[in-house]
Amino acid sequence: MCGIVAYIGSRDATPVLLEGLQRLEYRGYDSAGLAVVAPGGLKVRKTTGKVRELEAGIPRRFKGSPGVGHTRWATHGVPSDANAHPHLDGAAQVAIVHNGIIENATDLRARLESEGVTLVSETDSEVLAHLIARAGRPDLEDSVADALKLVEGTYGIAAIDSRQPDRVVVARNGSPLILGIGDKEMLAASDVAALVRFTRQVVHLEDGEMAVLRADGYRTSTLDHRPITRAPLTVEQGQDSYGLDGHIHYLHKEIHEQPEAVARALSGRLDRRFSTAHLGGLGLDARDVAGIRRIKLLGCGSAYFAGLLGATMIEGLARIPADAESASEFRYRNPVVEPDALYVAISQSGETADTIAAVRELKRKGARVLGIVNVVGSTVARECDGGIYLHAGPEISVASTKTFTSTGVALALLALYLGRIRDLGPAEGKRIIDALSEFPDQIRRVLDTEADIAGVANRFNQSASMLFIGRVSGYPIAEEGAQKLKEISYIHAEAYAAPELKHGPLALIGPEVPTVAVVPDDALYPKNLSSLAEIRARRGPVIAVTSRSDIPDAEAALLVPRSEPELAPLLLGIPLQLFAYHVAASLGRDIDQPRNLAKSVTVE
Ligand code: G6P
Repeated sequence: MCGIVAYIGSRDATPVLLEGLQRLEYRGYDSAGLAVVAPGGLKVRKTTGKVRELEAGIPRRFKGSPGVGHTRWATHGVPSDANAHPHLDGAAQVAIVHNGIIENATDLRARLESEGVTLVSETDSEVLAHLIARAGRPDLEDSVADALKLVEGTYGIAAIDSRQPDRVVVARNGSPLILGIGDKEMLAASDVAALVRFTRQVVHLEDGEMAVLRADGYRTSTLDHRPITRAPLTVEQGQDSYGLDGHIHYLHKEIHEQPEAVARALSGRLDRRFSTAHLGGLGLDARDVAGIRRIKLLGCGSAYFAGLLGATMIEGLARIPADAESASEFRYRNPVVEPDALYVAISQSGETADTIAAVRELKRKGARVLGIVNVVGSTVARECDGGIYLHAGPEISVASTKTFTSTGVALALLALYLGRIRDLGPAEGKRIIDALSEFPDQIRRVLDTEADIAGVANRFNQSASMLFIGRVSGYPIAEEGAQKLKEISYIHAEAYAAPELKHGPLALIGPEVPTVAVVPDDALYPKNLSSLAEIRARRGPVIAVTSRSDIPDAEAALLVPRSEPELAPLLLGIPLQLFAYHVAASLGRDIDQPRNLAKSVTVE
């Protein structure tokens, strides 16, 4: 993971790097640092903790250009000042920041130590600074290329050398790196979020590529120096969408942005004439769809849970066998890739390492892969055969909320499109279109009940553990609800398929362990009531999330408007986001940056 940023130009790099790091902090936030080239050599500051702590310790005279900055999510070595980046060579002339994992770091460390190099950190990354210095070529880019030839693993790196203040060298293999083209200045970062304040013109590097940045331009090549040309793209989002807009937390802001996010996901995609979805980026014609025998959805974390829900929608509406699997497991089990299967990779960031690896494994085996992605131009988006963009706007808080819901909407559109080419009749298609059209307003109505949800959260916030249950299409929502609660409140939460309760977890039920039950008003409603009765018989408190105001056996009910059975689960997820938020807020948690987590997991 980790965020990296680099700057070269006539300004002082320090404030540019600090601002970039703040935007990147969601990628990791256990330590941070920066280095700039000043007339007397490199100036370096690094610290355990967050970017604001780094900023507080930087003296006024700390000025220079070019510079590199880093915010860390520890993989090798605990969060400490020494392990924070940038890392330097022994002579303190080269400084590097690195995102990724150097897999042969142990061997490289031993080799460097046997040559008399002293390593001052426990990180895998430090070897890069020493290897670059040891290469000792007249041009930094040649030294970087030599060093990278010795390295196995993944990296996005930026390097500076105090003896060559006219350039920054960056390279990419497996970890994102984007160049930002300014007016007589250049930037690079692991995410466009760090660049948009300064420029909208960006260039995405591909794996195995590097770039030399100078104040007046850049040159891209492969690591073996073959020049390549990449046309710059214009980033759409303005810097405003990265602000808090009066909310205390990004999570709160993003939960409240859902009506607009969903409206954007639907915009221009509802085809009322043929009662289907219009999805221009899929690249699948009717004949392709007719030949699909199976659909497999892949993702990690909330993206995986959205995939579970998508599978139920696809089976329900399109009657194509569908299932979801976590991309991290899929990639390592030598999956059987069927020629008539369609694969769908789901990723908000489009940069999750395990999801990218799954896409590459599939492509290598000749599969057709679609991407459901939020970040335009991200790796998953670029490597898939086609797909659906969410257009949810930037999601900053580590816990996914609006992108989970928007992904669910995108999957509903996909299910509708596939269904209408297969056996779903026009009246059924219209039923789904009408229900989807109502979503933005229905979500608004759920958000209006925030005070009630906060009241329920405050009643249960002292629980040491909670169970979440749901059946079939309610089950993924139970998983996502439990995920939200555990990651931001640190309360232990586990999700089960409701019928599984009696096969084990019922042993945990009692007055101290509340159960959050996802209860759609569908054909399985009576079955769900039986589960609630079983819990109440053991004096377990039940918090039901449902559209039925007459639900029995519940200590508290979080109510949502009624929708069609295939889509209702998505609405049921909204109160659970606010529930987790208010539990976490009442406990004073670090809601946007929960401990040990990062938003974009760009390492294995
Ligand atoms: C991390 C985040 C989760 C997210 C998952 C997948 O674990 O903390 O909130 O669901 O990554 O991220 P992606 O960007 O691929 O959707």
